[in-house]
Amino acid sequence: PFPQLTDTFGRQHSYLRISLTEKCNLRCTYCMPAEGVPLSPKDHILSTPEVLRLAKLFVTEGVTKIRLTGGEPTIRKDLMDIIAGLNDLRSIGLKTIGMTTNGLALKRKLPALREAGLDQLNISLDTLDVFKFELMTRRRGFQNVMDSITGAVSAGFDAVKLNAVVIKNVNDYEVVRFVELTKDMPINVRFIEYMPFDGNKWNEAKFVSYKNMLARIKETYPDVIKLTDDANDTSKAYAVPGFSGKFGFITSMSEHFCGSCNRLRLLADGNLKVCLFGNAEVNLRDAMRSGAQDDKLLDVIGAAVKRKKKQHAAGSTMAYAIPCTRVGRPAAMLPA
Ligand code: GTP
Ligand code: 5AD
Ligand code: SF4
Repeated sequence: PFPQLTDTFGRQHSYLRISLTEKCNLRCTYCMPAEGVPLSPKDHILSTPEVLRLAKLFVTEGVTKIRLTGGEPTIRKDLMDIIAGLNDLRSIGLKTIGMTTNGLALKRKLPALREAGLDQLNISLDTLDVFKFELMTRRRGFQNVMDSITGAVSAGFDAVKLNAVVIKNVNDYEVVRFVELTKDMPINVRFIEYMPFDGNKWNEAKFVSYKNMLARIKETYPDVIKLTDDANDTSKAYAVPGFSGKFGFITSMSEHFCGSCNRLRLLADGNLKVCLFGNAEVNLRDAMRSGAQDDKLLDVIGAAVKRKKKQHAAGSTMAYAIPCTRVGRPAAMLPA
C-alpha cells in the first residue's frame, strides 16, 4: 500500500531511525577515538522543523515507528520539542516512539520524556563494573546510567531495553551477571555481537558469537527458555523461568536479519541511509532547503529505497557493519 517505501525485494519500511546529533558525551572505545569524531558544521544539522517535516512525510508513507538515536540524543537541546512534535503524528498513523541513549544524562529527563510521548527506551550499558565502565567509555558515570535504568523502569515506559556490546576478554565474563539483573527488573537485556567499522579496532579475536554467550549462560541457567520473536525484531529473545525480565541476542554478525529489515535511517545532517551498511545516501536537507515540495522529496526518498540491496556482504555469512548510533561515518566494507 505504500509504494515509495517498498523496495524491489518487497520489503516495506515502517521503521525510521532518526539520528538527532553526531555528538556524544561518552567515548566508548569500540565506537570512537578519545578525541571524538569529526563533526558536520552546525548549519548542516537538521533543525526541529526540518526533522518534524521529514518525520511527518515518512509517517504519511507508512512509517509507524520512529526511534531517536545519536550520537547521544539527550544532548539535543530541543529533544522534548521533537518528541512532542512526533507525538502529534499519532493521529496520522505513528504508533511507537523510541529512543536509544547511553543513559548518562537521562535520569532527570525521564518524567518529561514520558510526558512528551516517548514510549520505549533502549539504554546502552556494556559493563556492571564501575572501573570497567570508565575503561570502556573513557568517562565516569556508571551510577548515572544504572540510575537511569531503574528510573526508566519506575517511570513506566512500555519497554526498557539494556544494550550491551560483548567483547572477548573485556566484558564477556559478565553475561551471567547481566542476565541476573533480569531477576527482579522487568527489563530486556540484549547482548550485541561486536561489529567492525572504520577504525574501531575490531578483530576476530575480540568477537564473541551469540551461541558462545548462550552456552555460557546455560552453564549457570540450564533451563533458559526461548521466547517467540516478532517478525521485525533484531534480537532473539530468551528468559530464565521465574525471572521478571528477559534477555536476548542481536546477532548482526553471525546471523544477519536483512530479509526482514524494515528500517530506514535519517542522519543528523539530513542524509537518508537505506541500510546500516554501505554509503548510498541521499541528502534531504539540501533538497528541503532549496525549496523542494513534499512530492519531490518523496521521489528522492522512493528512488533511494529502490536502490536498497537485498543484504549486506552478499554471499557471505559474516556481515560487516557499522553501529547504528553513529551511522554518519562511512562504513568499512570489508571484503566478503
Ligand atoms: P528496537 O527493536 O526498536 O528496540 O531497536 P533496535 O534494537 O533495532 O535498536 P538499538 O538502537 O537499540 O540498537 C541495538 C543494536 O541493533 C545495534 O547496536 C545494532 O547492532 C543493531 N541494529 C539496529 N539496527 C540495525 C540494522 O538496521 N541492521 C543491523 N544489522 N543491525 C542493526
Ligand atoms: N558493534 C556493536 N554494537 C555497537 N554499538 C556501538 N558500536 C557498536 C559496535 N561496533 C551499539 C551501542 C548501542 C547501539 C545502538 O549500538 O552500544 O547500544
Ligand atoms: Fe557515544 Fe554510543 Fe558511541 Fe558510546 S557507543 S561513544 S555512547 S555514540
